Amino acid sequence: MRAVILAGGTGTRLFPLTKLMNKHLLPVGRLPMICYSLIKLREAGITDILLVTGREAAGMFTDFLGSGRDYGISLTYRIQEQAGGIAQALELAQPFVGSEDKFLVLLGDNLFEEPLKPHLEAFAKQSEGAMVLLKQVPDPERYGVPVFDAKGRIERIEEKPEQPQTDFCVTGIYLFDASVFTLIHEQAPSQRGELEITDVNNAYASKGMLRHSRMNGWWTDAGTFESLQEASIKLMGTVP
Ligand code: DAU
Repeated sequence: MRAVILAGGTGTRLFPLTKLMNKHLLPVGRLPMICYSLIKLREAGITDILLVTGREAAGMFTDFLGSGRDYGISLTYRIQEQAGGIAQALELAQPFVGSEDKFLVLLGDNLFEEPLKPHLEAFAKQSEGAMVLLKQVPDPERYGVPVFDAKGRIERIEEKPEQPQTDFCVTGIYLFDASVFTLIHEQAPSQRGELEITDVNNAYASKGMLRHSRMNGWWTDAGTFESLQEASIKLMGTVP
Protein backbone atom coordinates (compact mmCIF):
# COMPACT_ATOMS: atom_id res chain seq x y z
CA MET A 1 0.00 0.00 0.00
CA ARG A 2 1.12 3.55 -0.71
CA ALA A 3 0.71 6.54 1.60
CA VAL A 4 0.28 10.27 1.25
CA ILE A 5 1.39 12.76 3.88
CA LEU A 6 -0.21 16.18 3.70
CA ALA A 7 2.20 18.77 5.03
CA GLY A 8 1.05 22.01 3.44
CA GLY A 9 -1.26 24.63 4.91
CA THR A 10 -0.44 27.87 6.63
CA GLY A 11 -0.24 26.80 10.29
CA THR A 12 -1.90 30.04 11.35
CA ARG A 13 -2.78 28.75 14.82
CA LEU A 14 0.96 28.46 15.48
CA PHE A 15 1.93 31.97 14.35
CA PRO A 16 4.61 33.34 14.68
CA LEU A 17 6.34 29.94 14.95
CA THR A 18 5.11 29.16 11.45
CA LYS A 19 5.88 32.56 9.94
CA LEU A 20 9.20 31.30 8.60
CA MET A 21 8.96 27.56 9.20
CA ASN A 22 6.47 25.03 7.89
CA LYS A 23 4.55 23.51 10.83
CA HIS A 24 5.69 19.98 9.99
CA LEU A 25 9.34 20.94 10.35
CA LEU A 26 8.93 22.39 13.85
CA PRO A 27 10.67 20.42 16.61
CA VAL A 28 8.69 17.77 18.46
CA GLY A 29 10.81 16.06 21.08
CA ARG A 30 14.13 15.41 19.35
CA LEU A 31 12.90 15.40 15.76
CA PRO A 32 11.16 17.64 13.25
CA MET A 33 7.46 16.77 13.32
CA ILE A 34 7.44 15.19 9.84
CA CYS A 35 9.74 12.38 11.03
CA TYR A 36 7.04 10.84 13.19
CA SER A 37 4.76 10.29 10.20
CA LEU A 38 7.62 8.61 8.34
CA ILE A 39 8.44 6.42 11.34
CA LYS A 40 4.81 5.32 11.69
CA LEU A 41 4.50 4.50 8.01
CA ARG A 42 7.74 2.55 7.90
CA GLU A 43 6.71 0.65 11.03
CA ALA A 44 3.53 -0.36 9.15
CA GLY A 45 5.60 -1.56 6.19
CA ILE A 46 4.74 1.40 3.95
CA THR A 47 7.79 2.76 2.18
CA ASP A 48 6.36 4.34 -0.97
CA ILE A 49 5.26 7.77 0.20
CA LEU A 50 4.06 11.01 -1.42
CA LEU A 51 4.65 14.20 0.50
CA VAL A 52 2.49 17.18 -0.42
CA THR A 53 3.63 20.55 0.81
CA GLY A 54 3.56 24.23 -0.09
CA ARG A 55 5.93 25.89 -2.52
CA GLU A 56 7.71 28.00 0.11
CA ALA A 57 8.60 24.94 2.21
CA ALA A 58 9.35 22.36 -0.47
CA GLY A 59 13.07 23.13 -0.61
CA MET A 60 13.45 22.59 3.12
CA PHE A 61 11.72 19.23 2.93
CA THR A 62 13.88 18.03 0.05
CA ASP A 63 17.03 19.32 1.80
CA PHE A 64 16.10 17.51 4.95
CA LEU A 65 14.60 14.27 3.65
CA GLY A 66 16.04 13.93 0.16
CA SER A 67 14.88 10.77 -1.58
CA GLY A 68 14.01 9.19 1.76
CA ARG A 69 16.92 6.77 1.49
CA ASP A 70 18.30 7.60 4.94
CA TYR A 71 14.92 6.66 6.39
CA GLY A 72 14.50 3.46 4.41
CA ILE A 73 11.65 4.88 2.34
CA SER A 74 11.08 6.26 -1.14
CA LEU A 75 9.71 9.79 -1.28
CA THR A 76 7.85 11.56 -4.06
CA TYR A 77 6.97 15.24 -3.74
CA ARG A 78 4.11 17.39 -5.01
CA ILE A 79 3.57 21.09 -4.50
CA GLN A 80 0.28 22.61 -3.40
CA GLU A 81 0.62 26.14 -4.78
CA GLN A 82 -1.87 27.65 -2.32
CA ALA A 83 -3.43 26.23 0.81
CA GLY A 84 -6.91 25.52 -0.52
CA GLY A 85 -7.90 22.77 1.88
CA ILE A 86 -7.03 19.22 2.79
CA ALA A 87 -9.07 17.74 -0.05
CA GLN A 88 -7.37 20.07 -2.53
CA ALA A 89 -3.97 18.90 -1.30
CA LEU A 90 -5.11 15.30 -1.54
CA GLU A 91 -6.28 15.75 -5.11
CA LEU A 92 -2.62 16.20 -6.07
CA ALA A 93 -2.02 12.57 -5.11
CA GLN A 94 -4.08 11.14 -7.97
CA PRO A 95 -1.18 10.43 -10.37
CA PHE A 96 0.82 8.86 -7.52
CA VAL A 97 -2.00 6.60 -6.38
CA GLY A 98 -3.28 5.54 -9.79
CA SER A 99 -6.78 4.26 -10.41
CA GLU A 100 -6.88 0.89 -8.69
CA ASP A 101 -5.25 1.11 -5.34
CA LYS A 102 -6.38 1.66 -1.81
CA PHE A 103 -4.13 4.02 0.07
CA LEU A 104 -3.51 5.73 3.37
CA VAL A 105 -3.53 9.48 4.04
CA LEU A 106 -1.88 11.06 7.07
CA LEU A 107 -2.23 14.68 8.05
CA GLY A 108 1.34 15.53 8.94
CA ASP A 109 0.39 17.25 12.18
CA ASN A 110 -1.23 14.13 13.63
CA LEU A 111 0.99 12.41 16.17
CA PHE A 112 0.06 9.14 17.80
CA GLU A 113 1.22 6.09 19.64
CA GLU A 114 -0.69 3.22 18.14
CA PRO A 115 0.65 1.12 15.24
CA LEU A 116 -1.21 1.64 11.97
CA LYS A 117 -0.98 -1.96 10.84
CA PRO A 118 -4.15 -3.36 12.49
CA HIS A 119 -6.18 -0.56 10.91
CA LEU A 120 -4.62 -1.22 7.50
CA GLU A 121 -5.53 -4.89 7.84
CA ALA A 122 -9.12 -4.00 8.75
CA PHE A 123 -9.34 -1.75 5.70
CA ALA A 124 -7.87 -4.44 3.45
CA LYS A 125 -10.92 -6.61 4.30
CA GLN A 126 -13.26 -3.80 3.25
CA SER A 127 -14.11 -4.23 -0.45
CA GLU A 128 -14.42 -0.51 -1.26
CA GLY A 129 -15.01 2.91 0.21
CA ALA A 130 -13.20 4.69 3.00
CA MET A 131 -12.29 4.24 6.63
CA VAL A 132 -11.62 6.94 9.22
CA LEU A 133 -9.90 6.47 12.55
CA LEU A 134 -11.72 7.89 15.55
CA LYS A 135 -10.38 8.97 18.90
CA GLN A 136 -12.23 9.95 22.07
CA VAL A 137 -11.17 13.49 23.02
CA PRO A 138 -12.09 16.07 25.67
CA ASP A 139 -12.50 18.87 23.09
CA PRO A 140 -14.33 17.42 20.05
CA GLU A 141 -15.47 20.88 18.93
CA ARG A 142 -11.94 21.43 17.56
CA TYR A 143 -12.30 18.61 15.05
CA GLY A 144 -14.51 16.69 12.67
CA VAL A 145 -17.05 14.88 14.87
CA PRO A 146 -18.92 11.73 13.77
CA VAL A 147 -22.67 11.32 14.21
CA PHE A 148 -23.63 7.66 14.46
CA ASP A 149 -26.80 5.93 13.26
CA ALA A 150 -28.73 3.32 15.27
CA LYS A 151 -26.40 0.57 14.04
CA GLY A 152 -23.30 2.47 15.17
CA ARG A 153 -22.21 3.41 11.63
CA ILE A 154 -21.12 6.94 10.81
CA GLU A 155 -24.14 8.72 9.36
CA ARG A 156 -22.25 11.97 8.82
CA ILE A 157 -19.36 14.03 10.14
CA GLU A 158 -19.82 17.54 11.44
CA GLU A 159 -16.77 19.79 11.06
CA LYS A 160 -15.94 21.74 14.22
CA PRO A 161 -19.53 21.75 15.55
CA GLU A 162 -20.38 24.20 18.34
CA GLN A 163 -22.33 21.44 20.06
CA PRO A 164 -20.70 18.11 19.29
CA GLN A 165 -23.05 15.12 19.41
CA THR A 166 -20.33 12.72 20.56
CA ASP A 167 -16.93 13.02 22.20
CA PHE A 168 -15.17 11.32 19.30
CA CYS A 169 -13.07 13.14 16.78
CA VAL A 170 -12.19 12.05 13.26
CA THR A 171 -8.41 11.93 13.30
CA GLY A 172 -6.31 12.92 10.33
CA ILE A 173 -5.65 9.29 9.43
CA TYR A 174 -7.76 8.25 6.47
CA LEU A 175 -7.94 5.16 4.30
CA PHE A 176 -9.42 5.62 0.87
CA ASP A 177 -10.06 3.74 -2.33
CA ALA A 178 -9.26 5.53 -5.58
CA SER A 179 -12.87 6.72 -5.96
CA VAL A 180 -11.89 9.47 -3.53
CA PHE A 181 -10.63 11.52 -6.48
CA THR A 182 -14.02 11.44 -8.19
CA LEU A 183 -15.64 12.53 -4.94
CA ILE A 184 -13.14 15.37 -4.50
CA HIS A 185 -13.93 16.62 -8.01
CA GLU A 186 -17.61 16.75 -7.05
CA GLN A 187 -17.01 19.04 -4.05
CA ALA A 188 -17.32 22.83 -3.96
CA PRO A 189 -15.27 25.03 -1.65
CA SER A 190 -16.73 25.55 1.82
CA GLN A 191 -17.64 28.91 3.36
CA ARG A 192 -14.01 29.39 4.32
CA GLY A 193 -13.00 28.79 0.71
CA GLU A 194 -11.42 25.36 1.19
CA LEU A 195 -12.09 21.92 -0.28
CA GLU A 196 -12.94 20.06 2.92
CA ILE A 197 -11.96 16.49 3.66
CA THR A 198 -15.08 16.23 5.81
CA ASP A 199 -17.26 16.88 2.74
CA VAL A 200 -15.44 14.07 0.94
CA ASN A 201 -15.93 11.70 3.87
CA ASN A 202 -19.60 12.71 4.04
CA ALA A 203 -19.94 11.84 0.35
CA TYR A 204 -18.69 8.33 1.21
CA ALA A 205 -21.05 8.21 4.24
CA SER A 206 -24.08 9.16 2.14
CA LYS A 207 -23.33 6.16 -0.11
CA GLY A 208 -22.98 3.86 2.93
CA MET A 209 -19.28 3.46 2.14
CA LEU A 210 -17.64 5.01 5.20
CA ARG A 211 -16.40 2.68 7.93
CA HIS A 212 -14.48 3.52 11.06
CA SER A 213 -11.97 2.08 13.43
CA ARG A 214 -11.12 3.36 16.93
CA MET A 215 -7.74 4.40 18.23
CA ASN A 216 -7.05 3.50 21.82
CA GLY A 217 -3.54 4.86 22.27
CA TRP A 218 -2.45 8.43 22.80
CA TRP A 219 -3.20 10.75 19.84
CA THR A 220 -2.98 14.49 19.25
CA ASP A 221 -2.83 16.94 16.43
CA ALA A 222 0.02 19.35 16.99
CA GLY A 223 -1.66 22.35 15.45
CA THR A 224 -1.89 24.53 18.57
CA PHE A 225 0.75 25.67 21.07
CA GLU A 226 -0.73 23.45 23.77
CA SER A 227 -0.95 20.31 21.65
CA LEU A 228 2.51 20.93 20.17
CA GLN A 229 3.94 21.09 23.67
CA GLU A 230 2.00 18.00 24.77
CA ALA A 231 3.30 16.09 21.76
CA SER A 232 6.85 17.17 22.48
CA ILE A 233 6.69 15.93 26.05
CA LYS A 234 5.10 12.61 25.05
CA LEU A 235 7.52 11.95 22.20
CA MET A 236 10.73 13.24 23.78
CA GLY A 237 11.77 9.85 25.06
CA THR A 238 10.57 7.69 22.18
CA VAL A 239 13.40 8.17 19.71
CA PRO A 240 17.07 7.47 20.49
O1 DAU B 1 -6.42 16.56 12.96
C1 DAU B 1 -7.69 16.10 12.62
C2 DAU B 1 -8.57 17.17 12.02
O2 DAU B 1 -7.88 17.70 10.86
C3 DAU B 1 -9.94 16.62 11.63
O3 DAU B 1 -10.67 16.25 12.78
C4 DAU B 1 -10.75 17.64 10.84
O4 DAU B 1 -11.94 17.05 10.40
C5 DAU B 1 -9.93 18.11 9.63
O5 DAU B 1 -10.65 19.12 8.93
C6 DAU B 1 -8.59 18.66 10.08
O6 DAU B 1 -8.85 19.84 10.84
P1 DAU B 1 -7.77 21.00 11.08
O7 DAU B 1 -8.48 22.27 11.31
O8 DAU B 1 -6.84 20.55 12.16
O9 DAU B 1 -6.97 21.06 9.71
P2 DAU B 1 -5.72 21.96 9.32
O10 DAU B 1 -6.18 23.08 8.48
O11 DAU B 1 -4.96 22.31 10.56
O12 DAU B 1 -4.82 21.00 8.44
C7 DAU B 1 -4.45 19.74 8.91
C8 DAU B 1 -3.28 19.23 8.08
O13 DAU B 1 -3.55 19.22 6.69
C9 DAU B 1 -2.00 19.96 8.31
O14 DAU B 1 -1.06 19.00 8.79
C10 DAU B 1 -1.60 20.55 6.97
C11 DAU B 1 -2.48 19.83 5.96
N1 DAU B 1 -3.03 20.78 4.96
C12 DAU B 1 -4.03 21.62 5.32
C13 DAU B 1 -4.54 22.52 4.42
C14 DAU B 1 -5.68 23.45 4.82
C15 DAU B 1 -2.48 20.83 3.69
O15 DAU B 1 -1.55 20.04 3.37
N2 DAU B 1 -3.00 21.71 2.79
C16 DAU B 1 -4.02 22.58 3.10
O16 DAU B 1 -4.46 23.37 2.22
